[in-house]
Amino acid sequence: MTGERVTVTAYTDGPLLVRGDADILDADGHRVPRTRRTVALCRCGLSTIKPYCDGTHKAAGFRTDE
Ligand code: FES
Repeated sequence: MTGERVTVTAYTDGPLLVRGDADILDADGHRVPRTRRTVALCRCGLSTIKPYCDGTHKAAGFRTDE
């Protein structure tokens, strides 16, 4: 990491967007490969490419609000 600021943005009814040079680790602490500076992390639990979002949340009708 270069020390640059990393931001995580929660999108309504969608994923968490991570912008910046953050390491993404799995439950065992192993680094998950990433190929882009901005990645979307699934928070609906339905993605087939976890921890990343594959867009399934839209078809599933995932909602983050009451
Ligand atoms: S948030 Fe997009 S597939 Fe889960």
